[in-house]
Amino acid sequence: MNPESPRVVLITGASRGIGAATAKLAAQRGYAVCVNYRQNEAAARKVVDEIVAAGGRAVAVGADISIEAEVVRLFRTCDQALGRVSALVNNAGILETQMRVEQMDADRIRRVLATNVIGSFLCAREAVRRMSTKHGGAGGAIVNVSSGAAKVGSPGEYVDYAASKGAIDTFTIGLAKEVALDGIRVNAVRAGFIYTELHASGGEPNRVERVKELVPMKRGGYPEEVASAILWLLSDEASYTSGSFIDVAGGK
Ligand SMILES: NC(=O)c1ccc[n+]([C@@H]2O[C@H](COP(=O)([O-])OP(=O)(O)OC[C@H]3O[C@@H](n4cnc5c(N)ncnc54)[C@H](OP(=O)(O)O)[C@@H]3O)[C@@H](O)[C@H]2O)c1
Repeated sequence: MNPESPRVVLITGASRGIGAATAKLAAQRGYAVCVNYRQNEAAARKVVDEIVAAGGRAVAVGADISIEAEVVRLFRTCDQALGRVSALVNNAGILETQMRVEQMDADRIRRVLATNVIGSFLCAREAVRRMSTKHGGAGGAIVNVSSGAAKVGSPGEYVDYAASKGAIDTFTIGLAKEVALDGIRVNAVRAGFIYTELHASGGEPNRVERVKELVPMKRGGYPEEVASAILWLLSDEASYTSGSFIDVAGGK
């Protein structure tokens, strides 16, 4: 990519947790940042304010990525405010209360798949339409945020969530091959147990403290540690890396 061209990254679910840490690091690396959120506008504004106070460029855009029309509006708003995206981080993801599969109803499974899988597809579609050299774009990079859950399946907690991340892994492999000649690289990070508010959604805010003994490093990870891997995959240093995965999981 031409180093003169402005770099614009759209990060879904960037109001909190891994997305917020990625937004701040991306701004430090010179990206203009589109900070997407679903409902927590105050948290998203705080991320934007921090970036702007440090001399960067950022906008907060509320949009539920599970809804197609909202994804289209999200990217159009980003086009107008910052310019065409050169990078996408498919980070927004949800899980619901821990339970066994035999207790799950279809609505819950649909919600998890709608945000984690369909949302990621829709955002990637909008990004490819803007980045692809076949559509007159300048190329770009996409990073999907997957999970170690894709490999272990999360029995007794949220097999639906784990399966959604398995889908993200396959999506990463397929899309990487599909757009390899469009100037677009597609990779994923598989995060381990990271200290964020996600675990409260499962009904266990202190889950990382319980499970950290399973990690070879015997500790949970921090959002900034995941953000570093994401920024490397987005960068030109990763120019020959596509369809790859970085496990950011303390050796697990
Ligand atoms: N934390 C971990 O241990 C861990 C491990 C492996 C993988 N991951 C993955 O890492 C990613 C980020 O997780 P996190 O732990 O940082 O989560 P988090 O702290 O719960 O933050 C989730 C973010 O996603 C946003 N979001 C949720 N649903 C959305 C939707 N439909 N549309 C747009 N934005 C939406 C939230 O927006 P609001 O603030 O507006 O609600 C928030 O910004 C997820 O894909 C998760 O699966 C996390």
